[in-house]
Amino acid sequence: MTEPDIKKGLAGVTVDYTAVSKVNPETNSLLYRGYPVQELAATQSFEAVAYLLWYGELPTDAQLAAFVAEERADRTLDENVKQAIDLVPLTAHPMDVLRTAVSLAGASDPAAFDNSRESDLAKSKRLFAKLPAMVAYDQRRRRGQELIDPREDLDYSQNFLWMTFGEIPDPVVAHAFNVSMILYAEHSFNASTFTARVITSTIADLYSAVVGAIGALKGPLHGGANEAVMHIFDEIGSAENVSPWLDTALAEKRKIMGFGHRVYKHGDSRVPTMKAALDTLVDHYDAPDLAALYDTLESEFVSRKGIYPNLDYPSGPSYNLMGFDTQTFTPLFVASRVTGWTAHIMEQAASNALIRPLSAYNGPDERHIPGYVPDA
Ligand code: ACO
Repeated sequence: MTEPDIKKGLAGVTVDYTAVSKVNPETNSLLYRGYPVQELAATQSFEAVAYLLWYGELPTDAQLAAFVAEERADRTLDENVKQAIDLVPLTAHPMDVLRTAVSLAGASDPAAFDNSRESDLAKSKRLFAKLPAMVAYDQRRRRGQELIDPREDLDYSQNFLWMTFGEIPDPVVAHAFNVSMILYAEHSFNASTFTARVITSTIADLYSAVVGAIGALKGPLHGGANEAVMHIFDEIGSAENVSPWLDTALAEKRKIMGFGHRVYKHGDSRVPTMKAALDTLVDHYDAPDLAALYDTLESEFVSRKGIYPNLDYPSGPSYNLMGFDTQTFTPLFVASRVTGWTAHIMEQAASNALIRPLSAYNGPDERHIPGYVPDA
């Protein structure tokens, strides 16, 4: 009998084409619809990048103005979604809150089962507009604070920070936030996007695919790593403790969160851009100790293991400096990645084939229930 060619974790398996993004680990580059992500982060708003991911082209000024007006008018948290969030116990993780809130938003949409591109695009834009309110409100209620209404005079990033903290953010902070949203938006067939595509391939609705993707993103090997980075920083405490902490962690064969990647083996293309944004935040908030801890852990871990940081490594401390609770970091990833997920959902639906791989059986040989006699 020939051994089956198992590709554990689908590592190295190419399952389909995509025109949404290209990850090239050889050149350490990431293109969204052909544009290098660094160029997009330096020149575009997150709103323009969302438009690019959905439509395939950057918007003209008129297209962007129309899209932005639509987004600003649709930011308010629906009352039934607010009530659902209030029902989720504070002991639950904010990712569970988002999973619930998006699920209810889907259950309340009479067009949920309309899988046309036009309808899916409208749903994608609605989720894009409303996710900041869900994330911001959940953090606020955990702090015993009231919901803050959105402000139409603010852009996406400014409004997100406004709804979370009740203050107009400094331009340095709003810029770093915008950069993080752009960098998190899309990354080809990662685990959560692939989950969304699998669900879409059954011709289930867009909300089901997004809810499934939220579940996949929650895990610490994927989106949950930005939160886990901050827990590690809390454990280590200061740059002087890095060496002994790393000795113990590596002896215990712990995974160091925020390092390593399934595709990139020589560094994550998004890290230098996010690290530059983190540097501006370190200056803005005067946080040299955090910067020293960051740099020391990176240099020690890279020199010992040759494993490089991924995007979660600079984004976790960035969100911490901005004032987000650690548990809110992965929901911020959701607010961004919903753009990439929905672009993939629409791409999958437009050229669908049910995703159904094979497995090789290695359980018990065929056996029978004692005494069972089949009907003649
Ligand atoms: N810390 C310690 N060792 C690591 C790490 C790490 N962060 N990453 C990889 N390794 C080691 C593994 O222990 C393994 O060693 P071994 O061969 O001696 O057993 C080897 O490197 C290969 O690691 P795998 O986990 O098999 O590689 P894979 O490609 O499956 O891993 C992954 C990718 C899951 C991201 C891994 O690097 C990891 O767990 N990193 C920490 C979690 C994390 O930061 N996730 C965020 C991903 S990026 C994102 O979502 C934006």
